[in-house]
Amino acid sequence: MDEIKIFAPATIANISCGFDVLGCCLDTLGDEMIVRKSSVKGVRITKIIGEDLPLDTEKNVAGVAALALLKNIKEEYGFEIEIYKNIKPGSGVGSSAASAAGVVFAINELLNKPFTKLELVEFAREGERLACGSPIADNVAPAIFGGFTLVKSTNPLQIVELPSFKGLYATIIHPQIEIKTEDSRSILPRKIDLSLAVKQSANLGSLIHALHTNDYFLFSESLTDYIVEPHRSKLIPDFDKVKSNALKAGALGCGISGSGPSIFTFSKNIQTAYNVQGAINKVYEKNGIAHHTYVTKINIEGVKVL
Ligand code: HSE
Repeated sequence: MDEIKIFAPATIANISCGFDVLGCCLDTLGDEMIVRKSSVKGVRITKIIGEDLPLDTEKNVAGVAALALLKNIKEEYGFEIEIYKNIKPGSGVGSSAASAAGVVFAINELLNKPFTKLELVEFAREGERLACGSPIADNVAPAIFGGFTLVKSTNPLQIVELPSFKGLYATIIHPQIEIKTEDSRSILPRKIDLSLAVKQSANLGSLIHALHTNDYFLFSESLTDYIVEPHRSKLIPDFDKVKSNALKAGALGCGISGSGPSIFTFSKNIQTAYNVQGAINKVYEKNGIAHHTYVTKINIEGVKVL
């Protein structure tokens, strides 16, 4: 195989109670990429459609992730990358992670899979280092593993794959404003109250238990963020109204997706997910801010070949 076309999924990081450690993978919302072997060594980004992003390999997250992988193989040939972006950078649903995860997955397939998923996350997070200054893995891990993941440790990198509910849907609203991850991280307090840390760790533990025991009620009860959301929600127009409308419409929970401005909600089934979409759309139709909403099931496969 000399060429591959893949779907690189959007992801939700943090999931309210798991700042920098929890993430889950989405379906239908994502980028497409074509990666092909070339007789010319090195990595070249030959086309980017949909967003104005650098073609320069060293300045592009996909380029940097591909180079990190290439350092670990005997280079016999090079790779050309075409990126078809559907996820806006700065949207909070893992735009840079999709590009970075997509390219390392694709190259691994073209090389007959010499690398494990964990190693692919290791390469892909070099793209995150370029995008936001730190090699966070809470978006790239679910993009590569699929489903829900927990970043147990970043050094050494350890990822725990978590079970997912059958039939779980996410509804996402993406207000058309850009929030850079770096900026959204810079407003967070360096120190936090011990009582908040206790409540947050109780929620994180309960949420993981809920996933293992298929307990929607406990899952819903655990989707509260005491640490990050109070600071970041100020950056997102009408966040509180979106949240209360979503919960009234039957959502299991609602929070900031990654570093925002997108807001995620989870629902038990597709009908509720659409009801939630209607309810949150109403808030943004009223405030007049341009936005997109998406309804998607949780993708347990991660990046996939098209
Ligand atoms: N965990 C990261 C943050 C995700 O919230 O800053 C960035 O997408």
